Amino acid sequence: MYEYLQKLPKCEHHIHLEGALTPELLFSMAQKNHIDLPEDDPAFLSPESLTARYRDFSCLDDFLGYYYIGMNSLLDVADFEALAWDYFQHAAQDGVAHAECFFDPQAHVSRGVGYDVVLSGFKAAQKRAQAELGISSELICCFLRHLPPPEALETLRSSPVQTSMKSGDVIGIGLDSSEKDFPPQLFQQVYDEARALGLRCTAHAGEEGPAEYIATALDDLRVQRIDHGVRLAEDPKLMQRIANDQTLLTICPISNVYLKCVTSVAELPIRTFLDAGVQFSINSDDPAYFGDNYILANYRAVQDAFSLTPREWAGICRAGIKGSWCDETRKKELM
Ligand code: ADE
Ligand code: ZN
Repeated sequence: MYEYLQKLPKCEHHIHLEGALTPELLFSMAQKNHIDLPEDDPAFLSPESLTARYRDFSCLDDFLGYYYIGMNSLLDVADFEALAWDYFQHAAQDGVAHAECFFDPQAHVSRGVGYDVVLSGFKAAQKRAQAELGISSELICCFLRHLPPPEALETLRSSPVQTSMKSGDVIGIGLDSSEKDFPPQLFQQVYDEARALGLRCTAHAGEEGPAEYIATALDDLRVQRIDHGVRLAEDPKLMQRIANDQTLLTICPISNVYLKCVTSVAELPIRTFLDAGVQFSINSDDPAYFGDNYILANYRAVQDAFSLTPREWAGICRAGIKGSWCDETRKKELM
């Protein structure tokens, strides 16, 4: 069965490129770029101690603290290219055919790294992934919900961001970072303006936050996909709505265990979603922070917990292709 899972043409819809920064890459880039790592946290003594610390996140915010420190090591175009290329190589090994990748521009621009530096690096890696690995990919610009919404608006309206969206280098927007106490509706204007530009819209909701955030992401942000959404099962009426509308959830099973949203993959409502006709894809989220578990490890973990049939897996992959934001020609090739 593992071989079958490896061969399935997978679409990944929920991968934060900054979450593919391995401790080894983090340390080598910090050294090259003369970036000081925190001296008061013994986790930053070595890549090994950092890896050990990553096994012990207490919640989403505990992880995010390390995630934002880690990405401070990324400075120039080559760093961003190396980061994304490292991800694409893992993706190829795991049988990914198409990837839609999140990135967090606010976390780079705020420390003086230009948006175009980030984008140039990612674009170079995307081009190489297409040419050398046959992986098609798209970029989704995420806004950080723990920062004031006017800052997200300012980022969206900035000239390099607008240019990347109008050219198609960036095809959609997302909303990530701390969830609790940052309800989706705070970002309604950002989503209205992005939609007016013709962008696709998604948002993290129902990861740590309540199912109600899934409803407000749908109603107020008018998103086409929900990232995570595992708490949807707490609201059967909303679950039926999502199933009827065929809204894709981008589920990240191993992430949910690492961030203590559930105690094991078996606790996730995968069977409930299948029975209710909820469409979902399986994804890695931040593989370098979650035990080096890329997409295939997530497929395997779901298989170990739920013993799905090949027919069910084929249905999951088909839903992923249908819910992808590539053009129709590429979708036909993936089917
Ligand atoms: N940013 C990177 N990974 C994230 C996650 N799992 N939830 C929210 N924001 C994130
Ligand atoms: Zn995520």
